[in-house]
Amino acid sequence: MAYGILKIKNTKGIVTITINREKALNALNRQTFDELNQWFGTDGPKKKGLKGVIVTGAGEKAFVAGADIKEFDGLNEKSAEALSLKGQAIFDLIENFHVPVIAAVNGFALGGGCELAMACHMRVAGEKARFGQPEVNLGIIPGYGGTQRLIQYIGKGKAMELLLTADMIGAEEAHRLGLANHVVPAGKEVAKAKEIIEKIATKAPIAITKTIECVNVFFKGNYDGFAIEAEEFGTLAETEDFKEGAKAFVERRKANFKGK
Ligand code: CAA
Repeated sequence: MAYGILKIKNTKGIVTITINREKALNALNRQTFDELNQWFGTDGPKKKGLKGVIVTGAGEKAFVAGADIKEFDGLNEKSAEALSLKGQAIFDLIENFHVPVIAAVNGFALGGGCELAMACHMRVAGEKARFGQPEVNLGIIPGYGGTQRLIQYIGKGKAMELLLTADMIGAEEAHRLGLANHVVPAGKEVAKAKEIIEKIATKAPIAITKTIECVNVFFKGNYDGFAIEAEEFGTLAETEDFKEGAKAFVERRKANFKGK
């Protein structure tokens, strides 16, 4: 599938995906969703030597200003639920991606845009970033996981406030609340995300994937996260990287991980 909206660039194993609808503040229309689905569901998992992924928005004003409100016309109960389920499924692919996915939040991250940023494993906010879930202004609620993930990052009380008031918060406030991992000067978001991915890429790749799985399991109510953690701990003990990592520590040298 050709990508018409996503600009995808692979630099030495770090893929930067830019949502390129600057005039619409990078709002998530159907095509953008289909392309995200294609990359995170099919093309991305096949990439060899992938260290991590950065998701960002084109231009200086917006990361993503939400679902495309201009496509809401004619939505009914059935089609709106289907849209919500589709968005949730695509964001689940991002959340469960096998290498780190970092949102480089360069401006407005509203509604579906805040939800997209929250589906990523981390968020680097530029100082002009603005986060919010303004759906109640439109007579709707977040549909791509926002009511659930916002609580995970900032706790029930503050999540309730942002969801009910539709207030936006800036980068510093997002950082203070735990929504943004880092705040950087405007324009440095992608560079900081790259720096984090390069650091993670020095670690044992299977352990990184398993850590992502275990952290995510904590939030799936129907799974026993402790049991899965123990299971994955056992799986990792069989890897060459584990043996190498422990040996390198004892020998006081840097480990040479092979992803095996
Ligand atoms: N969908 C479609 N188009 C959008 C958009 C969106 N979410 N957000 C902005 N745009 C478009 C505007 O319509 C405008 O296009 P035109 O020039 O063709 O009119 C262009 O982007 C620039 O926007 P503004 O002129 O509004 O820019 P501004 O600087 O005055 O305001 C803003 C910026 C505060 C972000 C404002 O655009 C805004 O409030 N956008 C909507 C934010 C929102 O409500 N997001 C939630 C959507 S619902 C959702 O996401 C549901 C879900 O969870 C599933």
